Amino acid sequence: MAEPRPKVWVSQPLFDDIVAQLDAWFDVTRVSEISDHAPSAIAAALGAVDGALVTLNDRIGEAEVAGATHLRAVASVGVGYDNLDVDALHARGIVATNTPGVLTETTADFGFALMMAAARRITEAEHWLRAGQWQGWGFHKLLGAEIHGTTLGILGMGRIGQGIARRARGFGMRVLYHNRSRLPGDVERDCAATYVDRDTLLARSDHLVLVLPYSAASHHVIDADALARMKPGATLTNIARGGLIDEDALADALGGGRLAAAGLDVFEGEPAVNPRLLACRNVVLTPHVASASLATRRAMVALAVENLVAALGRGPDAGRPPTPIAPPPDAGRHRLR
Ligand code: GLV
Repeated sequence: MAEPRPKVWVSQPLFDDIVAQLDAWFDVTRVSEISDHAPSAIAAALGAVDGALVTLNDRIGEAEVAGATHLRAVASVGVGYDNLDVDALHARGIVATNTPGVLTETTADFGFALMMAAARRITEAEHWLRAGQWQGWGFHKLLGAEIHGTTLGILGMGRIGQGIARRARGFGMRVLYHNRSRLPGDVERDCAATYVDRDTLLARSDHLVLVLPYSAASHHVIDADALARMKPGATLTNIARGGLIDEDALADALGGGRLAAAGLDVFEGEPAVNPRLLACRNVVLTPHVASASLATRRAMVALAVENLVAALGRGPDAGRPPTPIAPPPDAGRHRLR
């Protein structure tokens, strides 16, 4: 008798033509509408399958896998994986994978663009124009912060941080970075980036970009104290996770003029956005779209599918998913993006 086909749950609508590749190996249950699954619904879905293809919307921890006795693999579409309790999954022998690499350049493009939009007040200028306020060219109108020739600070120097540093070269910027560990000399040279401690980074950056992973250790790494250490008139851009910033403290810094502007693609309670930030004129707000080019989003789904197929022991790479989330060398989940 033929072995039963493994069962797989696809938690969100992705790209049908790519997800269809799973049908060759598995019995697939698809969710056809973007869903905010309750923890109990995730637990029920995982309890019925051998593998799952999930996104950042789906939070999977100990409670969600406790009854998932057949679950062997969770493939998450996205590079950050704070939606997964990787330790809980590994403790049950469940392979967890993410999608690094394929989104690096697209996300770095967006981070740089968001930093520039905030510094040069691009969305604020457009809102002002659309509101019919433009009565004539004004010499003092909408003066922004300089970009070329200034100092860019990068907090979290993984692949995406390095991509942003390489882009800064074309703008004649000095690049400082701070990271959990210092990069090898050849990588520093390639990025023309100088390692500094966190306080120096805060004090010397004209534009600070956050690209570090979110974990308990990095929660509110930019709080009122860090904001007070930043250079007056600097900008702050976040394309990592909202929980890195104390948003009320940021609203104070933006409202009080301490910071010139901020660019935020991620929010602590997303999709809800702190109303104080919504009320600030000098913040550019985007709905977590840094990796959202069509080609990149397709590549992310394709990699997640490849991971799931291999992790469930099928296909040419059976047993060797291309991008597993490694068991952490220490107890933390602090890998760089
Ligand atoms: C998006 O935020 C990702 O982590 O891929």
